[in-house]
Amino acid sequence: MLRAIYPGSFDPVTYGHMDIIERSRKIVDELIVGVLCNKAKMPLFSAEERVKMLEEVTKEFRNVRIVPFNGLLVDFAAGMKADLIIRGLRAITDFEYELQMSQTNHKLEPNVETMFLTTSIEYSYLSSTTVREIAAFGGDLTQFVPEAVAVELRKKMSTKGECKK
Ligand code: PNS
Repeated sequence: MLRAIYPGSFDPVTYGHMDIIERSRKIVDELIVGVLCNKAKMPLFSAEERVKMLEEVTKEFRNVRIVPFNGLLVDFAAGMKADLIIRGLRAITDFEYELQMSQTNHKLEPNVETMFLTTSIEYSYLSSTTVREIAAFGGDLTQFVPEAVAVELRKKMSTKGECKK
């Protein structure tokens, strides 16, 4: 039984994240998408909202669970009895941060390995940050996030008074 954690902020989940979820769930028996709650910067969506959106867009995937976490990733991984941490690499610019994070995690917990999947080329430019910006200015989100997420983004931006449409 191979269990992996795919951790992140998912603020919000994009097609780039979905690509990693869909591919990694085929490699492992169980995939736990770990949603970080205690981010230093203020997220646009609360942890509950991010979890709900992820649950909605992964509801067809039987071996995927969405679990929020606080604190260190390795403690979360140990608590979940996970064998692996999975991260997506979009471009060389991701590499330095990801390398540092995986090596730090390995020092903290040598029993948990980090595995990298390179993001499919059509999503290599995509990030939650750019999606939030497009949403803030009323841009078309259909290529970037599932419709359920686009709906939540439009709602959020209209309550913040930043939606131009
Ligand atoms: O989607 P993100 O923001 O790139 O995800 C970053 C995340 C959540 C994987 C990372 O910030 C994390 O693991 N945070 C938990 C705190 C921790 O374990 N830090 C030590 C590792 S360097």
